Amino acid sequence: MATVIATINLKGGVGKSTTTAALAEFMSAEFGYRVLLVDLDPQTNLTTMMIGEQRWQIVNDEGSTVNSLFASALDAGLPEFDVEKAVQHGASPLESVRGVDLIASSLDLMETQEEMNAWQYEVPGSLEPLLVLRAALAGLQSSYDFILLDCAPNLGIVTANGLMMADAYVVPAIPDVLSTYGIPQLQRRVQRFTDRTGHGVTPLGVIITKYRSSSTLHRATIERLQSAVFEYESLPACEREARPRPPTVIPHWIPESNQIAQSADFFDFGTLRQKYGNHGQFDALRNMTEHIIAGVGVYL
Ligand SMILES: Nc1ncnc2c1ncn2[C@@H]1O[C@H](COP(=O)(O)OP(=O)(O)OP(=O)(O)O)[C@@H](O)[C@H]1O
Ligand SMILES: [Mg+2]
Repeated sequence: MATVIATINLKGGVGKSTTTAALAEFMSAEFGYRVLLVDLDPQTNLTTMMIGEQRWQIVNDEGSTVNSLFASALDAGLPEFDVEKAVQHGASPLESVRGVDLIASSLDLMETQEEMNAWQYEVPGSLEPLLVLRAALAGLQSSYDFILLDCAPNLGIVTANGLMMADAYVVPAIPDVLSTYGIPQLQRRVQRFTDRTGHGVTPLGVIITKYRSSSTLHRATIERLQSAVFEYESLPACEREARPRPPTVIPHWIPESNQIAQSADFFDFGTLRQKYGNHGQFDALRNMTEHIIAGVGVYL
Protein backbone atom coordinates (compact mmCIF):
# COMPACT_ATOMS: atom_id res chain seq x y z
CA MET A 1 0.00 0.00 0.00
CA ALA A 2 1.22 3.46 -0.86
CA THR A 3 2.09 6.01 1.78
CA VAL A 4 0.19 9.18 0.95
CA ILE A 5 1.87 12.53 1.68
CA ALA A 6 0.19 15.91 1.16
CA THR A 7 2.17 19.09 0.56
CA ILE A 8 0.39 21.97 2.21
CA ASN A 9 0.87 25.57 3.26
CA LEU A 10 -1.75 28.31 3.36
CA LYS A 11 0.87 30.70 2.00
CA GLY A 12 1.27 30.79 -1.78
CA GLY A 13 4.53 30.74 -3.71
CA VAL A 14 6.62 29.02 -1.03
CA GLY A 15 7.79 26.16 -3.26
CA LYS A 16 5.07 23.56 -2.64
CA SER A 17 4.81 22.41 -6.26
CA THR A 18 8.56 22.62 -6.93
CA THR A 19 9.31 20.58 -3.80
CA THR A 20 6.60 18.01 -4.58
CA ALA A 21 7.96 17.52 -8.12
CA ALA A 22 11.53 17.16 -6.84
CA LEU A 23 10.48 14.74 -4.09
CA ALA A 24 8.79 12.52 -6.67
CA GLU A 25 11.76 12.58 -9.04
CA PHE A 26 14.26 11.86 -6.26
CA MET A 27 12.11 9.13 -4.69
CA SER A 28 11.97 7.46 -8.08
CA ALA A 29 15.42 8.00 -9.60
CA GLU A 30 17.54 7.92 -6.42
CA PHE A 31 15.60 5.50 -4.24
CA GLY A 32 13.77 3.32 -6.76
CA TYR A 33 10.23 3.95 -5.51
CA ARG A 34 7.07 4.02 -7.63
CA VAL A 35 5.44 7.40 -7.19
CA LEU A 36 2.06 8.82 -8.18
CA LEU A 37 1.70 12.59 -8.17
CA VAL A 38 -1.78 14.09 -7.87
CA ASP A 39 -2.15 17.76 -8.72
CA LEU A 40 -4.99 19.17 -6.59
CA ASP A 41 -4.38 22.81 -7.47
CA PRO A 42 -6.44 24.50 -10.23
CA GLN A 43 -3.34 26.54 -11.08
CA THR A 44 -2.03 23.28 -12.67
CA ASN A 45 1.62 24.21 -12.00
CA LEU A 46 2.71 20.71 -11.06
CA THR A 47 0.88 19.29 -14.08
CA THR A 48 2.64 21.54 -16.59
CA MET A 49 6.00 20.93 -14.89
CA MET A 50 5.60 17.17 -15.25
CA ILE A 51 3.81 16.64 -18.58
CA GLY A 52 4.04 20.02 -20.35
CA GLU A 53 1.24 22.15 -21.72
CA GLN A 54 0.62 20.20 -24.95
CA ARG A 55 0.03 16.87 -23.27
CA TRP A 56 -2.00 18.60 -20.54
CA GLN A 57 -4.30 20.09 -23.20
CA ILE A 58 -5.05 16.61 -24.60
CA VAL A 59 -5.60 15.14 -21.13
CA ASN A 60 -7.84 18.08 -20.20
CA ASP A 61 -9.90 17.80 -23.40
CA GLU A 62 -10.54 14.09 -22.85
CA GLY A 63 -11.71 14.72 -19.28
CA SER A 64 -8.88 12.83 -17.59
CA THR A 65 -8.12 15.32 -14.79
CA VAL A 66 -9.10 15.56 -11.14
CA ASN A 67 -11.65 18.14 -12.23
CA SER A 68 -13.60 15.46 -14.10
CA LEU A 69 -13.39 13.25 -11.03
CA PHE A 70 -15.02 15.86 -8.79
CA ALA A 71 -17.46 16.96 -11.51
CA SER A 72 -18.69 13.37 -12.02
CA ALA A 73 -19.16 12.98 -8.26
CA LEU A 74 -21.41 16.08 -8.34
CA ASP A 75 -23.42 15.15 -11.41
CA ALA A 76 -24.59 11.57 -11.88
CA GLY A 77 -25.48 12.44 -15.50
CA LEU A 78 -21.78 12.81 -16.40
CA PRO A 79 -19.74 9.79 -17.51
CA GLU A 80 -18.07 7.92 -14.67
CA PHE A 81 -14.47 9.02 -14.07
CA ASP A 82 -11.98 6.49 -15.47
CA VAL A 83 -9.08 6.67 -13.02
CA GLU A 84 -6.87 4.16 -14.86
CA LYS A 85 -7.13 6.23 -18.02
CA ALA A 86 -6.40 9.43 -16.09
CA VAL A 87 -3.02 8.19 -14.84
CA GLN A 88 -0.28 9.70 -17.01
CA HIS A 89 2.57 7.21 -17.05
CA GLY A 90 6.16 8.39 -17.36
CA ALA A 91 5.30 11.86 -16.08
CA SER A 92 8.61 13.64 -15.91
CA PRO A 93 10.39 15.52 -18.66
CA LEU A 94 13.56 13.61 -17.72
CA GLU A 95 14.22 10.42 -19.69
CA SER A 96 16.24 9.26 -16.68
CA VAL A 97 13.17 9.36 -14.39
CA ARG A 98 10.89 6.46 -15.20
CA GLY A 99 8.87 5.68 -12.09
CA VAL A 100 6.72 8.80 -11.71
CA ASP A 101 3.08 8.95 -12.81
CA LEU A 102 0.66 11.85 -12.54
CA ILE A 103 -3.02 12.61 -12.32
CA ALA A 104 -3.36 16.08 -13.80
CA SER A 105 -5.32 19.08 -12.62
CA SER A 106 -7.42 21.50 -14.62
CA LEU A 107 -8.19 25.21 -14.52
CA ASP A 108 -11.87 24.18 -14.41
CA LEU A 109 -11.30 22.82 -10.91
CA MET A 110 -11.69 26.38 -9.61
CA GLU A 111 -15.40 26.35 -10.46
CA THR A 112 -16.00 22.71 -9.57
CA GLN A 113 -14.49 23.44 -6.17
CA GLU A 114 -17.25 25.96 -5.50
CA GLU A 115 -19.91 23.41 -6.42
CA MET A 116 -18.22 20.92 -4.11
CA ASN A 117 -18.45 23.50 -1.31
CA ALA A 118 -22.16 23.97 -2.00
CA TRP A 119 -22.64 20.17 -1.84
CA GLN A 120 -20.92 20.13 1.54
CA TYR A 121 -23.34 22.74 2.88
CA GLU A 122 -26.32 20.77 1.56
CA VAL A 123 -25.31 17.73 3.60
CA PRO A 124 -23.91 19.22 6.83
CA GLY A 125 -21.92 16.76 8.89
CA SER A 126 -21.64 14.23 6.06
CA LEU A 127 -18.13 13.12 5.13
CA GLU A 128 -19.21 12.05 1.64
CA PRO A 129 -17.99 15.21 -0.16
CA LEU A 130 -14.57 14.73 1.50
CA LEU A 131 -14.19 11.12 0.40
CA VAL A 132 -14.41 11.53 -3.39
CA LEU A 133 -10.66 11.46 -4.06
CA ARG A 134 -9.89 8.65 -1.62
CA ALA A 135 -12.63 6.44 -3.06
CA ALA A 136 -11.50 7.07 -6.65
CA LEU A 137 -7.83 6.34 -5.94
CA ALA A 138 -8.35 3.32 -3.66
CA GLY A 139 -7.65 0.89 -6.49
CA LEU A 140 -4.29 2.55 -7.29
CA GLN A 141 -2.85 2.30 -3.78
CA SER A 142 -1.18 -1.05 -4.34
CA SER A 143 0.58 0.09 -7.53
CA TYR A 144 2.71 2.73 -5.78
CA ASP A 145 5.07 3.16 -2.85
CA PHE A 146 4.20 6.84 -2.45
CA ILE A 147 1.33 9.04 -3.55
CA LEU A 148 2.20 12.74 -3.30
CA LEU A 149 -0.61 15.31 -3.28
CA ASP A 150 0.24 18.86 -4.32
CA CYS A 151 -2.36 21.13 -2.71
CA ALA A 152 -3.46 24.68 -3.47
CA PRO A 153 -2.60 27.33 -0.84
CA ASN A 154 -5.88 26.91 1.04
CA LEU A 155 -7.70 24.35 3.15
CA GLY A 156 -10.81 24.24 0.98
CA ILE A 157 -12.81 21.17 0.06
CA VAL A 158 -10.32 19.86 -2.53
CA THR A 159 -7.41 20.09 -0.06
CA ALA A 160 -9.68 18.44 2.52
CA ASN A 161 -10.20 15.58 0.03
CA GLY A 162 -6.41 15.31 -0.10
CA LEU A 163 -6.07 15.29 3.70
CA MET A 164 -8.77 12.67 3.92
CA MET A 165 -6.58 10.22 2.02
CA ALA A 166 -3.21 11.45 3.35
CA ASP A 167 -1.22 9.54 5.96
CA ALA A 168 1.12 12.48 6.50
CA TYR A 169 1.85 16.04 5.43
CA VAL A 170 4.87 18.24 4.87
CA VAL A 171 4.93 22.05 4.98
CA PRO A 172 7.33 23.79 2.60
CA ALA A 173 8.14 27.29 3.88
CA ILE A 174 10.55 30.09 3.05
CA PRO A 175 12.38 30.91 6.32
CA ASP A 176 11.05 34.45 6.70
CA VAL A 177 8.49 35.95 9.02
CA LEU A 178 5.49 35.97 6.68
CA SER A 179 6.00 32.47 5.32
CA THR A 180 6.35 30.84 8.73
CA TYR A 181 3.81 32.96 10.63
CA GLY A 182 0.86 30.76 9.63
CA ILE A 183 2.45 27.37 10.40
CA PRO A 184 1.01 26.97 13.94
CA GLN A 185 -2.41 27.98 12.61
CA LEU A 186 -2.08 25.42 9.82
CA GLN A 187 -1.23 22.74 12.36
CA ARG A 188 -4.25 23.67 14.47
CA ARG A 189 -6.51 23.52 11.45
CA VAL A 190 -5.24 20.07 10.47
CA GLN A 191 -5.85 18.98 14.07
CA ARG A 192 -9.41 20.37 13.90
CA PHE A 193 -9.87 18.48 10.63
CA THR A 194 -8.82 15.29 12.44
CA ASP A 195 -11.18 16.02 15.35
CA ARG A 196 -14.06 16.51 12.91
CA THR A 197 -13.40 13.55 10.61
CA GLY A 198 -11.58 11.07 12.85
CA HIS A 199 -8.83 10.83 10.22
CA GLY A 200 -5.32 11.49 11.59
CA VAL A 201 -2.63 13.03 9.38
CA THR A 202 0.93 12.90 10.73
CA PRO A 203 3.09 16.04 10.40
CA LEU A 204 6.46 15.08 8.91
CA GLY A 205 7.95 18.55 9.28
CA VAL A 206 8.69 21.88 7.68
CA ILE A 207 10.78 21.82 4.49
CA ILE A 208 12.87 24.98 4.34
CA THR A 209 12.77 26.33 0.77
CA LYS A 210 14.50 29.20 -1.05
CA TYR A 211 17.11 29.35 1.72
CA ARG A 212 19.72 32.09 1.40
CA SER A 213 22.80 31.40 3.52
CA SER A 214 23.71 35.10 3.35
CA SER A 215 20.43 36.12 4.98
CA THR A 216 20.56 36.67 8.73
CA LEU A 217 16.74 36.66 8.73
CA HIS A 218 16.68 33.20 7.16
CA ARG A 219 19.17 31.83 9.68
CA ALA A 220 17.36 33.49 12.61
CA THR A 221 13.98 32.15 11.46
CA ILE A 222 15.29 28.59 11.22
CA GLU A 223 16.87 28.92 14.69
CA ARG A 224 13.55 30.20 16.06
CA LEU A 225 11.66 27.22 14.60
CA GLN A 226 14.28 24.78 15.89
CA SER A 227 14.42 26.24 19.40
CA ALA A 228 10.62 26.08 19.68
CA VAL A 229 10.93 22.29 19.23
CA PHE A 230 13.85 22.13 21.68
CA GLU A 231 11.95 24.12 24.35
CA TYR A 232 8.90 21.92 23.88
CA GLU A 233 11.01 18.77 24.30
CA SER A 234 12.50 20.20 27.52
CA LEU A 235 9.06 20.63 29.15
CA PRO A 236 7.79 18.10 31.68
CA ALA A 237 5.43 15.53 30.11
CA CYS A 238 2.30 17.01 31.74
CA GLU A 239 2.99 20.42 30.18
CA ARG A 240 3.82 18.90 26.78
CA GLU A 241 0.44 17.20 26.69
CA ALA A 242 -1.32 20.51 27.22
CA ARG A 243 0.05 22.17 24.09
CA PRO A 244 0.64 21.22 20.46
CA ARG A 245 4.09 20.04 19.46
CA PRO A 246 5.80 22.66 17.28
CA PRO A 247 6.65 21.36 13.80
CA THR A 248 10.10 19.84 13.37
CA VAL A 249 12.35 21.40 10.78
CA ILE A 250 13.70 18.93 8.23
CA PRO A 251 17.45 19.51 8.60
CA HIS A 252 18.26 19.78 4.88
CA TRP A 253 17.39 23.18 3.52
CA ILE A 254 16.62 23.76 -0.13
CA PRO A 255 18.71 26.70 -1.34
CA GLU A 256 17.28 29.52 -3.40
CA SER A 257 18.72 28.86 -6.81
CA ASN A 258 18.09 29.84 -10.42
CA GLN A 259 18.47 26.23 -11.47
CA ILE A 260 15.71 25.10 -9.08
CA ALA A 261 13.50 27.92 -10.39
CA GLN A 262 14.19 26.75 -13.95
CA SER A 263 13.30 23.17 -13.03
CA ALA A 264 9.69 24.26 -13.56
CA ASP A 265 10.36 24.29 -17.33
CA PHE A 266 9.15 21.20 -19.15
CA PHE A 267 12.52 20.22 -20.56
CA ASP A 268 14.75 17.16 -20.45
CA PHE A 269 17.75 18.53 -18.55
CA GLY A 270 19.37 15.06 -18.41
CA THR A 271 20.19 13.83 -14.91
CA LEU A 272 18.77 15.14 -11.62
CA ARG A 273 22.15 16.79 -10.95
CA GLN A 274 21.91 18.62 -14.26
CA LYS A 275 18.28 19.59 -13.68
CA TYR A 276 18.51 20.89 -10.12
CA GLY A 277 22.17 21.91 -9.96
CA ASN A 278 25.32 20.44 -8.54
CA HIS A 279 26.26 23.26 -6.18
CA GLY A 280 24.51 21.97 -3.11
CA GLN A 281 21.03 21.77 -4.67
CA PHE A 282 21.19 18.08 -5.64
CA ASP A 283 22.56 17.07 -2.22
CA ALA A 284 19.99 19.15 -0.33
CA LEU A 285 17.09 17.69 -2.33
CA ARG A 286 18.41 14.14 -2.07
CA ASN A 287 18.98 14.43 1.69
CA MET A 288 15.57 16.03 2.20
CA THR A 289 13.96 13.14 0.29
CA GLU A 290 15.90 10.55 2.28
CA HIS A 291 14.89 12.25 5.55
CA ILE A 292 11.20 12.17 4.59
CA ILE A 293 11.39 8.50 3.59
CA ALA A 294 13.06 7.75 6.94
CA GLY A 295 10.39 9.80 8.77
CA VAL A 296 7.68 7.71 7.12
CA GLY A 297 9.45 4.61 8.41
CA VAL A 298 9.56 5.96 11.97
CA TYR A 299 6.18 7.70 12.33
CA LEU A 300 3.83 5.69 10.10
N1 LIG B 1 14.57 26.71 -4.25
C1 LIG B 1 14.12 27.62 -5.12
N2 LIG B 1 14.95 28.56 -5.62
C2 LIG B 1 14.49 29.49 -6.50
N3 LIG B 1 13.24 29.57 -6.92
C3 LIG B 1 12.35 28.67 -6.47
C4 LIG B 1 12.73 27.64 -5.53
N4 LIG B 1 11.64 26.90 -5.24
C5 LIG B 1 10.62 27.43 -5.96
N5 LIG B 1 11.04 28.48 -6.69
C6 LIG B 1 10.23 29.35 -7.57
O1 LIG B 1 9.30 30.05 -6.76
C7 LIG B 1 8.03 30.17 -7.41
C8 LIG B 1 6.96 29.52 -6.54
O2 LIG B 1 7.27 28.13 -6.44
P1 LIG B 1 6.10 27.05 -6.45
O3 LIG B 1 5.21 27.26 -7.62
O4 LIG B 1 6.75 25.74 -6.29
O5 LIG B 1 5.37 27.47 -5.12
P2 LIG B 1 3.93 27.02 -4.58
O6 LIG B 1 4.02 27.11 -3.12
O7 LIG B 1 3.56 25.74 -5.19
O8 LIG B 1 3.01 28.17 -5.14
P3 LIG B 1 1.40 28.19 -5.14
O9 LIG B 1 1.00 28.51 -3.74
O10 LIG B 1 1.06 29.26 -6.11
O11 LIG B 1 0.94 26.82 -5.56
C9 LIG B 1 8.20 29.49 -8.76
O12 LIG B 1 8.50 30.48 -9.70
C10 LIG B 1 9.37 28.55 -8.55
O13 LIG B 1 10.08 28.28 -9.75
MG1 LIG C 1 1.85 25.19 -6.25
